[in-house]
Amino acid sequence: MRPRLRLLIADDSAPTRDSLRRLLEFEQDIELVGEAGDGEEAIAQARLLRPDVILMDINMTPVDGITATEVISTEIPRSVIVMMSVQGEQEYLRQAMAAGARDYLTKPFSCDELVHTLQNAYERESKRWLQVAPNLSSAKTYAGKVITVFSAKGGVGKTTIATNLAALLSHELDKSVIIVDLDLQFGDVPVLLDFVPRRTIIDLAQAAEWGREEVQHCLYEYSPNLKVLSPPTRPEEAELVSGNHVKQLIGILRQLADYIIIDTAQSFQEPILAALDESDYIAIIATLDIPTIKNVRLCLEVMQGVLDYPVEKTKLVVNRAAEDIGIKADVLEERLGISISAKIPSDGRLAIQAANTGIPFVLSSPKSAISQGIRELAGKVAGEAGAATPEPAPGWGLLGRLLRHGGT
Ligand SMILES: Nc1ncnc2c1ncn2[C@@H]1O[C@H](COP(=O)(O)OP(=O)(O)OP(=O)(O)O)[C@@H](O)[C@H]1O
Ligand SMILES: [Mg+2]
Repeated sequence: MRPRLRLLIADDSAPTRDSLRRLLEFEQDIELVGEAGDGEEAIAQARLLRPDVILMDINMTPVDGITATEVISTEIPRSVIVMMSVQGEQEYLRQAMAAGARDYLTKPFSCDELVHTLQNAYERESKRWLQVAPNLSSAKTYAGKVITVFSAKGGVGKTTIATNLAALLSHELDKSVIIVDLDLQFGDVPVLLDFVPRRTIIDLAQAAEWGREEVQHCLYEYSPNLKVLSPPTRPEEAELVSGNHVKQLIGILRQLADYIIIDTAQSFQEPILAALDESDYIAIIATLDIPTIKNVRLCLEVMQGVLDYPVEKTKLVVNRAAEDIGIKADVLEERLGISISAKIPSDGRLAIQAANTGIPFVLSSPKSAISQGIRELAGKVAGEAGAATPEPAPGWGLLGRLLRHGGT
C-alpha cells in the first residue's frame, strides 16, 4: 500500500485554509497533518511534523512564504514546498523558487490540479533524493531498546509515565519511539493521546501471518517520531493476544524504532510476562503507601527470585513522590533492597490537563518538576537524557492543535 502524502498548509486566510481542507477531505492519498497561519508558524510546524509536502502561500503577514521557504528548505530539505500565488506575483514566485520551492499553483485552482501538483512535486523530489542519497532513503533498521512500565498495583501512574516517557524521548531527544499499549482490556494510551484507533494489536493477532509491513500498517502516527500500537477496543478481545504474539511483535518493533515503550496492566498474565521477559528495562512504578509497597516487594521477589531477571533490569520509580507525606525514600529503598532510579513529583493539575488535552506534560510544560522527573527516568533507561532542562520548543502553543490533527 502506498503511504499517504503528509501535507502541511500555510495560508494566513482562514477561509482559504477551510476551502483547501474541504477540497482534500476525500483524497485517499493525501493526509492533512497541520495548518499554519503565517511563515513563522509554518517553520515551527514543519520542524515538528516533518511533512512530505508544504503548500505555502507567498503573501502572509507577519512572516511571508518566501522567508519560511528559505528556512525550511535549508533545515528540512525533505519537505517539498509548493507555493501558492495569485496572478501578478511573478516576481515573488521567482524569488520563492530561488529560495527552494519546487513547484507552484496559481489561485484559483481545481482539486485535480492541486492533487496532481502536490503528488508530482513529491514524486520528483523523492526520485532526486534516491539518486543523491540512496542510503538515507532506504528503510532504516533499528536495534531498539524495550522499556516496559509495570506495577503490581493499579492506578499508580503507569500510563501517565509511559506516554510522557515516550513523548520526551521522541521530541526532546529526537529518537524514534513506538509506544505499545499492552493493557489489553482497559488500555487508555489512545485516550491520553487523544485519538480513536482505526487499527489495533487485534488486527495482528487475528492475521494468519504478519511481519514488519503489517505491524507498520497498524501503527498510529501521533507525530513523525512517535507511533502508537493501540490496545483492543473491546475488553473481551484481550484473550486473542498470546505471549507468542507479543514476543514476535517485540522482535519486529525493535527493528522499527530506537525505543519501544510498553504500558501494561497490573498482572503477570502471559502477554505481559512475555513483554517483561523481552524488555531491556522494566520501570516498576511505586507510590509511597503501604499497600503499594507490599505489592512492589512481591513483584520484585517474583522478578528476581522466580523469573531470574538481573537486578540492573529493574528500575524503581516513585510516582507522586512527596517526602512530607507517606514513607521516606530511604526507608523505601531499605525495605525493598533496591535504590530509587527516579522520583516523579505529584502535580494533579498538569497530569489532568495533559489527559484532557491529549498533549503529554513533557511537551506542554517541559520545565515543570513533574517533567523533570520523567527526564530523570529517561536518563536511567536511555542513558542520554537527563541533561539540562530544555528551553521550551518554538510553537508549543500550536502543538495541541497540530498533534491532534495528525492522522493514522
Ligand atoms: N505524578 C502525578 N501527579 C498527579 N497525578 C498523577 C501523577 N501520575 C498519575 N497521576 C494521575 O493518577 C491517575 C492514574 O494514573 P494512570 O492512569 O497513569 O495510572 P495507571 O497505573 O496507568 O492506572 P491503571 O492501572 O488503571 O492502568 C490519573 O488520574 C493521573 O492523571
Ligand atoms: Mg494505565
